[in-house]
Amino acid sequence: MNSINVGVVGVGNMGSAHVANIYKGLVPGMTLKCICDIDPGKIKKAAEFFDDSVVCFSDYDEMLESGLLDAVIIATPHFCHPKMTMDALKHGIHVLCEKPVGVDAEVVKEVNRIVGKSDKTFAIMFNQRTNPLYKRLKTIVQNGELGVIKRFVWIINNWYRTQYYYDSGDWRGTWNKEGGGVLINQCPHNLDIWQWILGMPKRIRANCEEGKYHDITVEDEVTIFAEYENGSMATFITSTGEYPGTNRLEISGSLGKAVVEDGKLTLSLLKTDERTICRESTESMPTEPYDTVIYDDEETEDGHLGILKNFANHILFGEELIAPGIEGINELMISNAAYLSSWEDRTVTLPLEPGRFTKGLLKKQEEERLILKEKSVTYEEPDLENTEYAERWKVRW
Ligand SMILES: NC(=O)c1ccc[n+]([C@@H]2O[C@H](COP(=O)([O-])OP(=O)(O)OC[C@H]3O[C@@H](n4cnc5c(N)ncnc54)[C@H](O)[C@@H]3O)[C@@H](O)[C@H]2O)c1
Repeated sequence: MNSINVGVVGVGNMGSAHVANIYKGLVPGMTLKCICDIDPGKIKKAAEFFDDSVVCFSDYDEMLESGLLDAVIIATPHFCHPKMTMDALKHGIHVLCEKPVGVDAEVVKEVNRIVGKSDKTFAIMFNQRTNPLYKRLKTIVQNGELGVIKRFVWIINNWYRTQYYYDSGDWRGTWNKEGGGVLINQCPHNLDIWQWILGMPKRIRANCEEGKYHDITVEDEVTIFAEYENGSMATFITSTGEYPGTNRLEISGSLGKAVVEDGKLTLSLLKTDERTICRESTESMPTEPYDTVIYDDEETEDGHLGILKNFANHILFGEELIAPGIEGINELMISNAAYLSSWEDRTVTLPLEPGRFTKGLLKKQEEERLILKEKSVTYEEPDLENTEYAERWKVRW
């Protein structure tokens, strides 16, 4: 086999970008065989783009049962992801699922159990893992170049969105159809990069402000404070309501600090470990020498295309997966914990007590159903020739 036959389910904004990339031949090793969407308008629009070799479905199960597919790309709203993933794997079909892997980590545990029993590939679209600066930062931290990590601080509030955005699909910005706001929609990328570089925290305290800047029931501003077992601290601040925004990631350790901002990584490395300086110096405020290195001429980010190519290369040639799907649960556990902490106004410990987040989400959904007025939906029509949508999801400085 030198190419896998792929189907895309959900040809909205993101799915149509994947469809276009594959159909245009930009993903070696992938052939677009099918598309599926419950919205006939979306199918009609997408179908105008290609010839009869691509088969259109309105029913996902029928597409899985068609025998036409080696792999499926899932680009439907988040709540569909776990069941669609499990159904495809049970049909012996490889899965590349859009982020987030689901809404409730408890449900995703079952997905990972099914993955464990399947010989098919399960990957997730964490395209920001292809960013060269984050890749370098991960290596620096894991090689111990920063010493013992003291603090991780990420201000990522350049996910600005307007009210028009939230009104552009009836599932957006709702507990019932999306399962949250900025944490579940925009931030899975950042929460994933956080845990990818530093691992999982132990305790989480968060404040999630709901409808602070938009007419929505879910959160559009979040501050998370997290603690690690070894005493390292992490702070994560995000918002869709601040413009112009900031994207600044700083990690400090006993041997120095790393800052990623404005498309460059600045590394400041001490010659002596700060713990030694603190204990042995005979001065109150010594000015210890440190070296500064700036990485700003990195290769470009591969983004969605990088993950698509890697998924095909993994299936065809055994290339190591950049983003294994079973890792999708990690960032979701952080966001579930942040919601629960904010709802219950307390510090929560990971892993969460089973059922506690689920109960909280059901309560939010019930409250929302009582207050939600009918939204006037003006769908942002996906345009397969338009590459701007996918670009939005690369790292922005
Ligand atoms: N990786 C990224 O950078 C990135 C960027 C944007 C969106 N996403 C993810 O992609 C997913 C879709 O987001 P979007 O912005 O494209 O949404 P969208 O609303 O534009 O598209 C979703 C599509 O799914 C279809 N759909 C819904 N239920 C279906 C079902 N049961 N069967 C078949 N089709 C169904 C809808 O009709 C719609 O066309 C979300 O999970 C989102 O988080 C990822």
